[in-house]
Amino acid sequence: MSTDRFAEVRRRHANADAGGGEARVERQHQEGKLLARERINLLLDEGTFEEMDKLVRHRSREFGMDEQVIDGDGFITGYGRIHGRPAYVFAQDFTVFGGSLSEANAQKICKIMDLALKIGAPVIGLNDSGGARIQEGVLSLAGYADIFLRNTLSSGVIPQISAIMGPCAGGAVYSPALTDFVFMVDHTSHMFVTGPDVIKTVTHEDVTKEKLGGAETHNSISGVAHFIAPDDAECLRMIRQLFSYLPQNNRDDAPVRTSSDPIDRVDASLDTVVPAESNLPYDIKDIIHRVVDDGEFFEIHEHWARNIVVGFARMDGRSIGIVANQPAFLAGCLDINSSVKGARFVRFCDAFNIPILTFEDVPGFLPGTDQEFGGIIRHGAKLLYAYAEATVPKITIITRKAYGGAYCVMGSKHLRTDVNFAYPTAEIAVMGAEGAVNIVYRRELAAAEDKVAARKQKIEDFRDRFANPFVAAERGFIDDVIEPRETRPKVIRALRMLTTKVDTMPRKKHGNIPL
Ligand code: HXC
Repeated sequence: MSTDRFAEVRRRHANADAGGGEARVERQHQEGKLLARERINLLLDEGTFEEMDKLVRHRSREFGMDEQVIDGDGFITGYGRIHGRPAYVFAQDFTVFGGSLSEANAQKICKIMDLALKIGAPVIGLNDSGGARIQEGVLSLAGYADIFLRNTLSSGVIPQISAIMGPCAGGAVYSPALTDFVFMVDHTSHMFVTGPDVIKTVTHEDVTKEKLGGAETHNSISGVAHFIAPDDAECLRMIRQLFSYLPQNNRDDAPVRTSSDPIDRVDASLDTVVPAESNLPYDIKDIIHRVVDDGEFFEIHEHWARNIVVGFARMDGRSIGIVANQPAFLAGCLDINSSVKGARFVRFCDAFNIPILTFEDVPGFLPGTDQEFGGIIRHGAKLLYAYAEATVPKITIITRKAYGGAYCVMGSKHLRTDVNFAYPTAEIAVMGAEGAVNIVYRRELAAAEDKVAARKQKIEDFRDRFANPFVAAERGFIDDVIEPRETRPKVIRALRMLTTKVDTMPRKKHGNIPL
């Protein structure tokens, strides 16, 4: 009897390991995709994966499903370690009923999500699925809703990461959409609410799957995805890299990684990155790379809303979130997408105890009917709200322009930023000198004999008086005007000073961020 049982265990495990069988495995590989188990093995530290619910079976009896039972039911779930730290993982196996979600495998996912929340460890989902298991109808839909609920309850408590490594369509897209970071693999992954055929029927538009919901589309146009990877292996390596910057949960601090980069390193080359001529572009990443530990900056949303740069780095070995206007793109102005991108990142950092370092060079909000009709007022307010409510250590450096409302928004002192620095090149004012002179001296200039000379003089006067960091520094809105070369030591000292910062919000159920 017991020998039979041993054999039965082995048989069932082998049945689960075989997935959908050789032909489907072969097809998966031919399409350039790894198998679910291969993916998990690359994601986790070697030999650390403990599978759960490998023996779960679906309970479907219709459409001949009782004849097709595969142990594990096409989802692989369990836990393991990444860089030695616990992580929960689920992976959809496309070789089993197209990785479709059944009542049984939804329960498997919920089980690890519940555990992850209790234990306080991140959840990583590897998606490759034809969506709701058609044969199970509403049971499958119920399973999705159960997962969505857990995604929402876990939000801000444990980091949640999704990788799209195959199809992800219909309502199924909303689980990844609720998570903190979405990775997509180029050419083999697709996300859309309705596919090309439905679109053709409803709107008569012709669009390919790739154009509609491929990795490039969601990384550069929609902003749904944060990362694009050339293949499965690189995608999994990138997830491990992201993981290294994150804490396990909202009560934890991110891991410290000691660095040989000196904390008091000054860099004279920083003094010349910001051009003397105030309307010339420069790449803000040239500053970021020179300031952070070992020049390592892990950029998020690299291809979307490029007028703002966000990502993780370390300083003094500790994770920080960097938000930076990008003068090399749209002059670094704030628009709808960059506001949303910045706000979401600031809120992630705040939820997970990651200090925020802001580099500010922003001429203002982007003008235009597109922006106004699209609701720049509502979307810009998100960034403002996010900075204002953030209670983690906040440091802002104004490298050049800080004009108008954008001055207020980008981590100004007034939004309870702890340490505010400006470079000598900073220009902090209500608006640029030309615009200001046109308004304030309109009548005087109209009456002037030599209008051109009078206007030039007024602009110069205005620049001297206002387009500098000193008026703000005299008021204490800027704590110090620093030489760019000193940025790294100054920021590290401020971060060390802020290590034990405690700040709070008034008691409330939750705020009402302008969505
Ligand atoms: C059951 C499914 C399935 C599904 C695929 N399969 N999707 N089985 N339920 N949803 C099975 C196929 O029958 C096939 O089985 C195997 O998986 C591989 O599928 P293929 O079609 O051969 O693969 P491919 O050509 O690569 O196409 C993949 C696909 C296509 C684009 C995903 O299968 C497809 O369109 N599937 C249906 C997608 C769909 O409409 N899902 C419901 C969406 S609505 P065999 O035995 O031949 O290998 C939804 C609602 C969620 O998900 C609601 C949440 C709120």
